[in-house]
Amino acid sequence: MAQQATAQIGVTGLAVMGRNLARNLARNGFTVAVHNRSPERTRSLLAEHGDEGTFVSSESMADFVASLERPRAVIVMVKAGGPTDAVIDELVPLLEDGDIVVDCGNAHFADTRRREEALRGHGLHFVGTGVSGGEEGALHGPSIMPGGSAESYRKLGPIFERIAAQVDGVPCCRHIGPDGAGHFVKMVHNGIEYADMQLIAEAYDLLRAGLSASPAEIAEIFREWNGGELESFLIEITADVLGHTDAATGRPFVDVVLDQAEQKGTGRWTVQSALDLGIPITGIAEATFARSLSGHADQRAAARRAFPDAGEKWQVDDRDTFVEDVRRALLASKIVAYAQGFDHIRAGSLEYDWDIDLGGTATIWRGGCIIRARFLDRIREAYDTERELPTLLVAPWFADRVGAGVPAWRRVVADAARAGVPTPAFSSSLAYFDALRAERLPAALIQGLRDNFGAHTYHRVDREGSFHTLWAGDRSEVEA
Ligand code: 6PG
Repeated sequence: MAQQATAQIGVTGLAVMGRNLARNLARNGFTVAVHNRSPERTRSLLAEHGDEGTFVSSESMADFVASLERPRAVIVMVKAGGPTDAVIDELVPLLEDGDIVVDCGNAHFADTRRREEALRGHGLHFVGTGVSGGEEGALHGPSIMPGGSAESYRKLGPIFERIAAQVDGVPCCRHIGPDGAGHFVKMVHNGIEYADMQLIAEAYDLLRAGLSASPAEIAEIFREWNGGELESFLIEITADVLGHTDAATGRPFVDVVLDQAEQKGTGRWTVQSALDLGIPITGIAEATFARSLSGHADQRAAARRAFPDAGEKWQVDDRDTFVEDVRRALLASKIVAYAQGFDHIRAGSLEYDWDIDLGGTATIWRGGCIIRARFLDRIREAYDTERELPTLLVAPWFADRVGAGVPAWRRVVADAARAGVPTPAFSSSLAYFDALRAERLPAALIQGLRDNFGAHTYHRVDREGSFHTLWAGDRSEVEA
């Protein structure tokens, strides 16, 4: 018997994320078509959670598509890359004009642009959608960043806004912009996530080295911080992880975990894209490289053997002042990471003509996502007040925090350098801040050197035009 088209939305790919998204949709009253390549997963979803709402299950892709109301909206929740293309290839011949394919995986925005263009050629909408919040978020309310056409959002918006996290009655979902805009913004979200986590890790390392404190004691400090301006999901779970004891050994959990951080690649994509766009996201880059460095175990062992005592002994005299210094340095560095991330989004938006609303982006990161934090409200306010804000650092609330934190920031970075505690993200953020505010940068010398060895020319501070000095000749200056 032919399937009746009753489902408002469908999910194909029922691993944990797809399964939880489907359950979230059903729990919110939508009739959800579900499908998975191997039907066991579909059956287990229905057996375990079938009573949470209305599911229409299909074992073939054709039946799955036939069970959807038109225009059809199909969420693809499979591994990014080849598997996504394979599912799209299978879907396209079954769909009709105006139907919508939604990719909720962590796809690269360039792949999303390519797929959007290809499906547009078939009269279909392709909506690359960033979804943040992990398994729990997918089930209870993620932050959702859909790209694609405005027309597709007319169908998807009411559905996604209902299942997204809500903060002060505002859904953590909005249409980001055309084609790859949603996946681009999700990529930068992840880059900021990398920076945030590296900064937290450095703060922990500093507290441990400076105070000779135990992870459990440091967990308490993070718990306290979470009651203030630093309040965020990542600070909250840091307290949780640091306070955890390994059952097998009775040691702090963090001490039995191998100190080599892995990555699936979204941080790397963020840095690659920023290099292409010429945006200095130094905090995110340092965080990404710090993960790579941690994995170079052989080099680390060789350097440890060669330089066992290269740091000075560290004795913190006043515990409370030091803890407050680290907090201020963390807040200032975190503001730098967000400022850089939002610069990156603005540059991407200009390059690809996406017209992304920066304040709106901050709004939908206030809940559901991994970087959700109290101060995202301040970012929203800053961009709502001044759309063309040159950098978040100069918006009043942020300028106050950064300005007040500068002496602490310098003390922490200098003490860490003396003691030999690595703080790549703290120190590069401070360097970025100092570079931005410098009256003159040594970039002038770099220009001189480029002109000297390669006749690359330079501009002058006192006259328009490009100039070259005849370095090998009489050293007179010519207009280039
Ligand atoms: C999210 C996360 C998620 C990401 C993991 C792992 O927003 O829910 O960003 O999408 O896949 O955080 O990322 P790494 O393995 O690269 O650390």
